Amino acid sequence: MKLLKLSGIAILLTFCLGIRGKASTPDSAYIFAYSTLKNGGRNGLHFAWSVDKIHWFAIGPEYSFLKSDYGTWGSQKRMFEPYLLKGHEGKWHCVWKINDEDATFSYASSEDLIHWKPQVYPQLNYQGNCLMPLISCNQDKKNYIVSWWSNKKGNEGYHEVTTSDFVHYSLVKNVSKEAFHNDRSSVVINNIQVRGTIHRVPWISVEKLINHQKLVAYNQQLYHETTDQDPLRFVGLEKVQASITVNLDDYKPISDQLIGVFFEDINYAADGGIYAELVQNRGFEYSPADKMGQDPIWNSFYAWNLRGDHTVFTIDSVNPIHPNNSHYALLKIEKQGALLTNEGFNGIAIKAGEKYDFSMFGRVPNGEKMKVVVRLADPDGKVAGQTAINVRSSHWEKVSAVIHAEKNVPNARLELIPQSPGTINLDMVSLFPQNTFNGRKNGLRADLAQLIADINPKFVRFPGGCVAHGDGLENIYRWKNSIGPLEARKPQRNIWNYHQSMGLGFFEFFQFCEDIGAEPIPIVAAGVPCQNSSCGGAGQQGGIPLNEMDSYIQDILDLIEWANGDKKTEWGRKRAEAGHPKPFNLKYLGVGNEDLISHVFEERFRLIYKAVKENYPDIVVIGTVGPFSEGSDYERGWKFANELDLPMVDEHYYQPPGWFIHNQDYYDKYDRSGPKVYLGEYAAHLPGRPRNIETALAEALYLTALERNGDVVRMASYAPLLAKDGNTQWNPDLIYFNNTEVKPTVGYFVQKLFGQNAGDRYFYSDMKLSDHRESVRKRVAVSVIHDSNSNDLMVKMVNLLPVKIEVKLKINGWDDFSSKAICTLLTGHPDDTKARPVEKEIAVSNTLDHVLPAYSFTVIRIPDIKMKK
Ligand code: AHR
Repeated sequence: MKLLKLSGIAILLTFCLGIRGKASTPDSAYIFAYSTLKNGGRNGLHFAWSVDKIHWFAIGPEYSFLKSDYGTWGSQKRMFEPYLLKGHEGKWHCVWKINDEDATFSYASSEDLIHWKPQVYPQLNYQGNCLMPLISCNQDKKNYIVSWWSNKKGNEGYHEVTTSDFVHYSLVKNVSKEAFHNDRSSVVINNIQVRGTIHRVPWISVEKLINHQKLVAYNQQLYHETTDQDPLRFVGLEKVQASITVNLDDYKPISDQLIGVFFEDINYAADGGIYAELVQNRGFEYSPADKMGQDPIWNSFYAWNLRGDHTVFTIDSVNPIHPNNSHYALLKIEKQGALLTNEGFNGIAIKAGEKYDFSMFGRVPNGEKMKVVVRLADPDGKVAGQTAINVRSSHWEKVSAVIHAEKNVPNARLELIPQSPGTINLDMVSLFPQNTFNGRKNGLRADLAQLIADINPKFVRFPGGCVAHGDGLENIYRWKNSIGPLEARKPQRNIWNYHQSMGLGFFEFFQFCEDIGAEPIPIVAAGVPCQNSSCGGAGQQGGIPLNEMDSYIQDILDLIEWANGDKKTEWGRKRAEAGHPKPFNLKYLGVGNEDLISHVFEERFRLIYKAVKENYPDIVVIGTVGPFSEGSDYERGWKFANELDLPMVDEHYYQPPGWFIHNQDYYDKYDRSGPKVYLGEYAAHLPGRPRNIETALAEALYLTALERNGDVVRMASYAPLLAKDGNTQWNPDLIYFNNTEVKPTVGYFVQKLFGQNAGDRYFYSDMKLSDHRESVRKRVAVSVIHDSNSNDLMVKMVNLLPVKIEVKLKINGWDDFSSKAICTLLTGHPDDTKARPVEKEIAVSNTLDHVLPAYSFTVIRIPDIKMKK
């Protein structure tokens, strides 16, 4: 079991306070549990303590021991009127009001008031709201009663449910006002009156709460250390000497798949991004629902315009090409001369001399054949390339043509110009560069895909992230909607508040993986949507109804058959029909994405896991352990993974650079016999979320620790990967881009250096520094690995100090040699966002003197070493 470490100082602190406590403190005291309205009620559960019930001392002050998880970020996540009760079995139970509307309350339990189990929100068959919830214990102590007050019209009054496990609840019952014993107390803390519950507890319990808060505060201070404080932290430090000894006979095998990429359609990563389609809203399927009705112009007309007179442009849905693609454009042309234009994704970038495949589905309902001129025009209307197509049929028919671009235009538009009066229907209007990555039809933007390929990722995770599980049951990503003919794919609302055309679907993902030699890691929802959902299950996670799980599980089994099955199988045949008769050789399947580890989740995960294991025992199922590096989902997720003996789990954490510096031993303590780890999402976040040398070096430092733990951490992917300028929902990202440029960040080069210098053997090394301060030691890291394929040895060294390090490297166990090596250096001021790696050739032998500049990452790659047997 993985436990949060206690730093040496904190242990000392706890120990000292403990001793003092024994000498002069009471046997028992009172704690007061409460929340406040500050920050919209989002500050969670606080405790204060008192020895006399008159004078109260806030812990923290106002430290949050438990925060509400309910609902979406922004509007929800609120805790009001918490009510705490110590149960007859010795456990603490807490309920609270989540808002004034919803027909549920929150519940969480804890053994020690510090570690809380994941929260639950019972789905009550009830229409009122749940104000002022209380818990009481039934007299026979067989079960608990949760009661509350409602002021919702039609449900005014007092209500209760009984439960023995806080999982299953009785039907809601009306009760009298007299039966509702609201015994919350009012106390004054820091001159402010607050309401909550009072409990008598042993003094040691109070002390533990105080010490916990102090430890958290101490760690927070460490984790928020930044390079800004380095001049003070390292005042007087001029240089450091490091003697590093590596023994080539002291090694362990490590994962040769450590570095991969996380792909999610966030920040316009897919449509308008790496998916090379240049026409926006090609299927006229944009819908106000994509943006929850918040954008009045986001609809079927989006990105399309009619210029000129005597033509009417409307959207119709009678007899569409396919029910999944139900809208199309209808043009009624009275007199020739108007143009229908598409602006692309903030313009269409075309390059002189390149060819573009134009295609569309057209229909002339009245049977009058129509010629349509198709042009690419610059912003002044000057033509940059053109062709023409003829629509002849009264049934949907695909027509295509090629346009040769005559000049470079970064922001062209597509123009469709009907050449005669009449009526025409248009759908799936597409413009695709022929120059895609690997020349694939319906493929990827070559420059962006190449940057990803250059990382040499050993795997690609897709389709997310939150996109995989959506923000409600109807928004779960269904892989079957993403394959097959483009006109039959089912577009959907993107959880990041835009539209997913599904043009980039599972076939394209798998093909990309194959093209770059990476393992595909599809992630399917574990039968539950995002834990921050606002819909599907009383406004929270909820789950696919159990009676629909068989069919959901069948979809997952079909995915494996589609990927790996013979072309004679039902789903293998579909893959073959799409152009890939050979199996894709899928090895991994992620189930779930940082879900709330609730009963609803566990029930569904078990069913999926059992079915996959029974039908495809060789598939490595990757479980999930919540969104953070600690906390209730992490703890319960790991417990669950151990119970099921899962082969691997997916961990996520976004942390400040200081966290990565101070947690390099995070995996050193992991049980080697338990599930392996896929660190599926991580990134160093500084205030303001820049991507600079400081964040990149913190990640490099941590990646050396991941290499050291490559026996338990099998894979890791930075997240998110892509972000389009002006369309970001999340910062920082690894690669920024616009329609014409790609802009890898400094952190990208760290990923690339690790990806390109990966190995399968880790050598233990001994490092002695001339300065013995812990703050110095934690900012210097070395990792030495060997790649059996190339027989190359790689030495990676990170210096996060503001001074240079003079390294004396000694490699034992190597026949005397001297060789040329490639030394790559990435260095800059911590704020530097433009630094790039510089390569040079150096001479190396068994000993090497080398200088690591301040704030730098160095990789020395020694080719073809002859290791002693
Ligand atoms: O990487 C961005 C988001 O962060 C992912 O969609 C989600 O899994 C995580 O919370």
